Amino acid sequence: MKKLRLGVIGACGRGTLADWAHQPQNGVEIVAGADIYEEQRKSFVERYKKEKNADVKAYADYREMIEKENLDGLFVTSPDFCHEEHACHALQNKVAVYLEKPIAITLEGADRILKTAHDNKTPLMLGHNMRYMDFTRKMREIIQSGVIGEVKAIWCRHFISYGGDAYFRDWHADIANTNTLLLQKGAHDIDIIHWLAGARSVRVNGFGALTAYGSVPRRPLGDEQMGNLNLARPWTLSSYPPENLKDFYPTVNNEDINMITMQLENGVQASYMQCHFAPDACRNYTVIGTRGRLENFGDNGYHSIQVWTKRTDRYDLNGDITYRFEPNDGGHGGADPRIVQGFIDMLQKGVAPDTTPQWARHSVATGILGAKSIRTGGTPYEIPALSEELENYDFSQSSDK
Ligand SMILES: NC(=O)c1ccc[n+]([C@@H]2O[C@H](COP(=O)([O-])OP(=O)(O)OC[C@H]3O[C@@H](n4cnc5c(N)ncnc54)[C@H](O)[C@@H]3O)[C@@H](O)[C@H]2O)c1
Repeated sequence: MKKLRLGVIGACGRGTLADWAHQPQNGVEIVAGADIYEEQRKSFVERYKKEKNADVKAYADYREMIEKENLDGLFVTSPDFCHEEHACHALQNKVAVYLEKPIAITLEGADRILKTAHDNKTPLMLGHNMRYMDFTRKMREIIQSGVIGEVKAIWCRHFISYGGDAYFRDWHADIANTNTLLLQKGAHDIDIIHWLAGARSVRVNGFGALTAYGSVPRRPLGDEQMGNLNLARPWTLSSYPPENLKDFYPTVNNEDINMITMQLENGVQASYMQCHFAPDACRNYTVIGTRGRLENFGDNGYHSIQVWTKRTDRYDLNGDITYRFEPNDGGHGGADPRIVQGFIDMLQKGVAPDTTPQWARHSVATGILGAKSIRTGGTPYEIPALSEELENYDFSQSSDK
């Protein structure tokens, strides 16, 4: 089995995802990390020492890490607005990339990343870990079994209790850093809608606004605290209701409610609705076919999928078929270790993962144009296609295969 020397850009926060890849017994090691913040570099080195008994190197400059470390692959887990720069630089240097969602915050940026991977014949995988969750996989299996007939509608309601803590206290709050929270959060769900439908959006429109969080007191300009997660993000159940919140990021201009509707290339009619100040947290999908409907109740811990196949003229919470799920320890319900293994398998065995850069780009394109619609009075926009060459390219293969 090919030995792998791996690195990470953005060593803390989501950078802990890379920890699943540190498997010296399988010849796979995280050897280095880059982060612009000193405290994060220190914390990264200490984490590996304490939890893995490993000596990793920390760099302030990711370019220096790529130049010196002879890496086979790299996790890019830096903030959304860094993805294009970090991924393109690694790919240009023939380092395979695992790139967190959203692929980029502009359509041009997303397309440039795909083109760079293609031109350098270097593997690129996107971190859409929701495709590796038990409940999404089961929903897809149910749909593919044909039990609910031909799918015609997919609707997702997304309740985000922790929206204020996670997305309005730090860089996420400013559209200059995210473009829209339809990417940061919605890129996952738009991708799952596409994946369940087996088709992608061709048209999108929407409405939304900054509502409850518009009046929450902010920190003064200059107090961005980009690198101090603890100060910037007290994540607590007492951060509710919105009137109790304070100390938001100095610039808050992202919508806290986003609602988009999508028409897919196979005629499926879809919708995604997101609220960042709900009291509870769940991604609630329903898929309606010509012979039935499914819906998930909960998306982690103890949760279920109900499937209705007989007509009833009321809303019966118990479907005709029930699938139950139990808590799973791995991050994001077990999806994180699975998707990281997907990256290792891609690099060691050339196995294509369950996510593709093309579909990741399309979810971001849909989110970007959905936000554009929200900001232009609900105008519908067509989603531009990729070039045929990029659309048909296999991003899991490298030039030496
Ligand atoms: N797939 C998922 O389930 C999931 C979950 C959380 C976050 N994410 C994604 O992971 C990425 C990181 O999110 P986060 O919440 O951990 O962000 P974060 O702000 O905590 O940053 C992550 C790390 O990057 C470092 N960093 C910041 N700017 C940097 C720069 N210019 N160069 C190098 N390192 C830098 C930070 O110090 C931190 O260690 C985002 O793109 C986010 O969308 C994905």
